[in-house]
Amino acid sequence: MSRWALAALPLVVACHGGEAEPYAWRLPPHFPEPWVPDDAPMSEAKVELGRHLFYEERLSVSGTISCGTCHVQALAFTDGRATSIGADGHAGTRSSMTLANVAHQPTLTWGNPVLDTLEAQALVPLFLDVPLELGAQYVIVDVLEEMAADEYRARFVDAFPDQDDPFTVGNVAAALAAFQRTLSSGDSPYDRHLRGEPGGLSPAAERGLALFESSRLRCAGCHGGLLLASDMRSADDPEATARFENTGLYDLGAGGGYPPPNVGLFEFTGESTDMGRHRIPSLRNIAVTAPYMHDGSIADLDGVLDHYAAGGRTLSDGPWAGVGADNPNKSPLVAGFELTAAERADLVAFLEALTDEAFLVDPRFSDPTAG
Ligand code: HEC
Ligand code: HEC
Repeated sequence: MSRWALAALPLVVACHGGEAEPYAWRLPPHFPEPWVPDDAPMSEAKVELGRHLFYEERLSVSGTISCGTCHVQALAFTDGRATSIGADGHAGTRSSMTLANVAHQPTLTWGNPVLDTLEAQALVPLFLDVPLELGAQYVIVDVLEEMAADEYRARFVDAFPDQDDPFTVGNVAAALAAFQRTLSSGDSPYDRHLRGEPGGLSPAAERGLALFESSRLRCAGCHGGLLLASDMRSADDPEATARFENTGLYDLGAGGGYPPPNVGLFEFTGESTDMGRHRIPSLRNIAVTAPYMHDGSIADLDGVLDHYAAGGRTLSDGPWAGVGADNPNKSPLVAGFELTAAERADLVAFLEALTDEAFLVDPRFSDPTAG
């Protein structure tokens, strides 16, 4: 290719799809730009379409729920339930996850090591049969036809300006992904502490942070970095991978078992040592996302601290009885510790200082048709 052709190439690429302007991220100042797939450029129009679709109940078979039903902004985009309830009224088996900073997650969901784009993930709640979430497969053809004729028409056309027929499932997923990539949360007291600004950590929260990072508690050995998770994917580090760990939540039959179908990484690898290993979740906004763990089986932060202090949870009766501390696949970092009442209060104060109040009410992320 001649030098001229090379120089012209970015222009051609930029005009394709009408996305000539680089997308203006509104990120917390200390956050890196998210990684975005090459074929999924961001645009304001795509984000706006995605926001409408995120709250669109017509995408469910019952016409009564949307992504936003199980991912509620005030709860940092979780749903306050142990396990979510689908459009058919039946409970699923896993706990809804926060979507705060989801653009920076290297892989998606609690146990899947290969689901690594928001475009691909969006198809799961739309079309999964067991458990049923939205059940869009039963309505999507009609709904896209309706949207081609109602107020969605202009939104699809603006979001995908180079397409003759933009009313496709792929574009629904692409727009949902674009909207979710804007859900950055980085203005908690902990962030102000990191940036050296006023309004940072209280003395109690500061003591809690020291405990969190201590070699006695070792929380930061797993919940590390800006997300307080395993690793962060960004435009600078697109190859980042997530870590999956077993914290000794269960030990069925004293053989390391976890209650099916929530077997974690094992579901994908079939390696017995992967049984119960789940993605290390981000602890941002953790105070508003109870109940906790992949199955919502711990009601509150005190219960989480009991679990770690014991070096794994013991369930003395019921179908899932077992001594989690003895789970053979448990991470050595979950070794147990003693905590005074004052230390516990400090640690909880730190976890509470991870709440970004502005994020929970930011009008850019709310239901555009409400109020
Ligand atoms: C019925 C409740 C429900 C609905 C509706 C729902 N979700 Fe979820 N969502 C969940 C649950 C439960 C998980 C955890 C799934 C797992 O680990 O298998 C999850 C996980 C996710 C994740 C992974 C987050 C992470 O950090 O890895 C994303 C992204 C997501 N949902 C987006 C969406 C989108 C987009 C929609 C709408 C198309 C949607 N969800 C609809 C319950 C729901
Ligand atoms: C070995 C790595 C590891 C260590 C050490 C660790 N965690 Fe975790 N943490 C995880 C994983 C993995 C999960 C999800 C486990 C599951 O659902 O089965 C989790 C879940 C949590 C949750 C619930 C998150 C949610 O969204 O439901 C909280 C809160 C939490 N950890 C806090 C802590 C604290 C506080 C410490 C230190 C006392 C700590 N963790 C130590 C890996 C770790």
